[in-house]
Formats: sequence, structure tokens, C-alpha cells
Amino acid sequence: MIAKYEAKISGTGHYVPKKILNNFDLEKIVDTSDEWIRTRTGMFERRIAAEDEAVSDMAYHATLDALEMAGIKPKDLDMIIVGTISGDHPFPATACVLQKRLGIKNFPAFDISAGCTGWIYAANVAKQYIENGIAKNILVIGAETLSKITNYKDRNTCVLFGDGAGATIISRAEKKDISRFIDSEITADGTYYELLVQHAGGSRMPASHETVDKNLHTVYMEGNKIFKLAIKSMYSVCDTVLKRNKMDVKSIDWLITHQANLRIIEALGKKMKIDENKVIVNIEKYGNTSAATIPIALDEAVREGKVRKGDIVLMASFGAGLTSGSLLIRF
Ligand code: UT7
Repeated sequence: MIAKYEAKISGTGHYVPKKILNNFDLEKIVDTSDEWIRTRTGMFERRIAAEDEAVSDMAYHATLDALEMAGIKPKDLDMIIVGTISGDHPFPATACVLQKRLGIKNFPAFDISAGCTGWIYAANVAKQYIENGIAKNILVIGAETLSKITNYKDRNTCVLFGDGAGATIISRAEKKDISRFIDSEITADGTYYELLVQHAGGSRMPASHETVDKNLHTVYMEGNKIFKLAIKSMYSVCDTVLKRNKMDVKSIDWLITHQANLRIIEALGKKMKIDENKVIVNIEKYGNTSAATIPIALDEAVREGKVRKGDIVLMASFGAGLTSGSLLIRF
């Protein structure tokens, strides 16, 4: 397809719940230690949503900040896409719940289930709608309340996840804009889907007393099998967009990857031979917020004045599916 228009990120925002769960709190819940968590993952704190706080609530707050930065109102939006695997309800889409809360209607609103790659997948889809001229301003969210589907008796998973939301406004770039999307790549390898799965609650294993008793509605993950695949798949999607645009790692001002494990981020950085000062990391504060990690890190970096207008930013993620994806932009 020949693109009629170009897309850009015109606004970012994020929200994290107030409640903090740190490594010492976890020591009291499961057989773990601050030392193990820090050295194996780089995490120290994570945020936990309140009992009455759902994905759309967090997404709403993040959206208000993103709209303000973009200088537009909810009525200027013409699509909402939410990347999430822990939405308000199994159905309808959290994007529709958010649409109601924003007081707007009569345009497409849908969720994308791509695990931790949810925001990259959603941004990739938004890019197509901007480029073909169908939409001008799309609200693209990555938001999760994984704490609500985490088994706090399983030390293999419960130390890893946190809650939060990142919002971005993806808009049509004007000719005079320097900000624009350069390229994006999304892919999946379903042969590995069983490594990261919520077993119960769908048509394969409908909810029952037994599934609840056995904790089958929580995250199941074979973390160490995913570890190597994560590095390989993120490297591959980054390499694809760089090569396709005749760019190399030296052209990049910032690398923002999914925040699942500091050792994964560092191994990827090393493999890419990127200067470590260009790699944005906030995993110690929020843990793994799945689809929200990248838009939260991007918004923080923008508001801290690290990522500035015109900077080249490469983003990459991987997650349940197993999905992976990259997005290369001039911010
Ligand atoms: O975001 C979606 C995609 N998911 C990921 O990216 C996760 C990728 N994987 C990882 O980040 C890492 O594999 C983990 C952080 C999940 C685990 O780290 P690891 O170095 O791969 O540990 P492991 O699973 O191989 O376990 C090593 C040991 C085991 O004990 P033994 O069998 O050697 O005695 C585990 O039982 O560490 C033990 N262990 C723990 N010990 C203390 C596992 N979890 C804990 C814990 N505290 N929380």
C-alpha cells in the first residue's frame, strides 16, 4: 500500500496506582528475597491497583494527560485501540468502556490481545488507519491490572508483575512536522503459546469452582524458556526495521524495550551493541506491567526531557502468543 499520509505520536500520558508493593513486602508473602528479585530481574517496586480500580480507570487518567499534550479534546478522536489482556471484562472491549467514560461515540473502539506486545500491535494498527487517511487522531493504550490475575502463592510469577497504563495519541503528521513514524514490524510464533497462558475462563476451560480452586485463572508462565526467545525475537524485529530503512544502531537516540527483566534488556542492548546510556529502564519502579511498560516508559522519558522532539526512538516488545514487535519513530 502506498501511504497517503504519515503518522506521528502527538501526545503521551501514563498512570500508575498509588499502592506500592516492594520486594520486602513480597518476602512476607512467598519464599523469596529482595536479593533474588533484584539480581534476577532488576525489580524493586511495583504498583497494585485498588480493589475497585480496573484497566479502563487507569487508562482514563493516562488518556487525559495524553490528550492535553496533544492539544486535542476527546471529541477529536476517531478511534480507540487498547492493548490489554486484563481488561475490565472478558467482553465487551475495554476500549468501549473507555469510550463511554470519555463521553464520545460512533467510531471504532476495540482491544488487541497480544500480551506484553499489545501496545506495539495497537500502534502498528493505528499507523495503517492514519496512513490510509481513514483516521486522524487515534487513542492507543497499553494498560493492565495483572495483579488481578496473579497467583500470590506462586513465587515464579507473583514477584514480577505490576499494574499501570500508558496512553498515546497517534495523529496524522502534517508536511511541516518533523515527528513521524518511520516503520513498524509485528509478528507472532504460536508454537510457543503454552509457555505463557491464563488457562481457565475461556472456551477451552470455562470457569468452574474447580478452576477457581486450582488457581487456573491466573498467569501461568515458563519464564526461563521465554527468556532466550525474548532476546532473540526483540533483536529480530529491531534488526528488521533498521535494515529496511538503511539505518543502524548509531542512528538511534533511545531504545525503549518491554520491561520484563533487566537481564533481558541488558542482553538485548549488548547484542545490538547500543550505548547503554541510550537504553531507557524503569523496571525497578514498576516491574512488568505487560502492555503498559513501553508507553509508560516513553511518557516518563518525554516528561523528564530525555526524549525530545526529533529524537529517533526504537521500541520493541515480546509477550504472550508469543508475539513480538517493534516501532521506529522520529518523536
Ligand atoms: O513479559 C512477558 C514475558 N515474560 C518474560 O519475559 C519472563 C522471562 N523470564 C524471566 O524473566 C526469568 O526467567 C524469571 C525472572 C521469570 C526467572 O528467572 P530465572 O533466572 O530464569 O530463574 P528460574 O526460573 O530458572 O529459577 C531458578 C531458581 C529456581 O530454583 P532451583 O530450582 O534452582 O532451586 C526457582 O525455583 O530460582 C527459583 N525461584 C525463586 N527463588 C526466589 C524462582 N522464583 C523465585 C523467587 N524467589 N521469586
